[in-house]
Amino acid sequence: MTSDLLLPRDLPLWNAARPYLDIRNNDEHTLVAYGVAKALLRELPQADESVVLPAVILHDVGWKRIPQDLLLLAIGRNPTRKDLVAEHERHSVEIAREILAEVKPAGVNVQAVLDIIAGHDTTTPARSLNDAVMKDADKCWRTTPHGMKIIRGWYDWSVAEYVDMVKTVSNPRLLTEPGRAMAETFVASLEAELQLETYMRVT
Ligand SMILES: [Fe+2]
Ligand SMILES: [Fe+2]
Repeated sequence: MTSDLLLPRDLPLWNAARPYLDIRNNDEHTLVAYGVAKALLRELPQADESVVLPAVILHDVGWKRIPQDLLLLAIGRNPTRKDLVAEHERHSVEIAREILAEVKPAGVNVQAVLDIIAGHDTTTPARSLNDAVMKDADKCWRTTPHGMKIIRGWYDWSVAEYVDMVKTVSNPRLLTEPGRAMAETFVASLEAELQLETYMRVT
């Protein structure tokens, strides 16, 4: 029996966020990133889970207000509508503020959560350890079986193309040691898998 993914404190936040996350697999992305964040937090106990985990749940709710046909133009290898990334952050902050005011999760510093959601994609450096953990959970999702399956499906990428994107676009932006270790190990395993045939060939 696996243990529950969401902490009891975060279940009402998830339920309030769900209507905003039912596009472009954002609901599944959010849950898997939450699981990754919990693992990163175990390695980085100085970070504050009561800021990081609510921020993970609410960081992408703003995509709901972006026209659906433009979503994939905002991300990927060569985004043509990068402006939408900043726009989804602004909407996410607004919606998250409303949700947090309504749900009132105990012991959560609302402003600290909102500060992390603002700029979670458009700022690269770690603005704090909590910010770094949240950003790494978001990007490390790409280095999970789930993230790979979903993103390859969006762009119809081969495994080799996916590995190249992760190595060149995503992993260089990681900020924590456990995040980097997770991502680099994932890439190493895929690169090994791509060479299986070379070494398994009967000689
Ligand atoms: Fe985002
Ligand atoms: Fe995200």
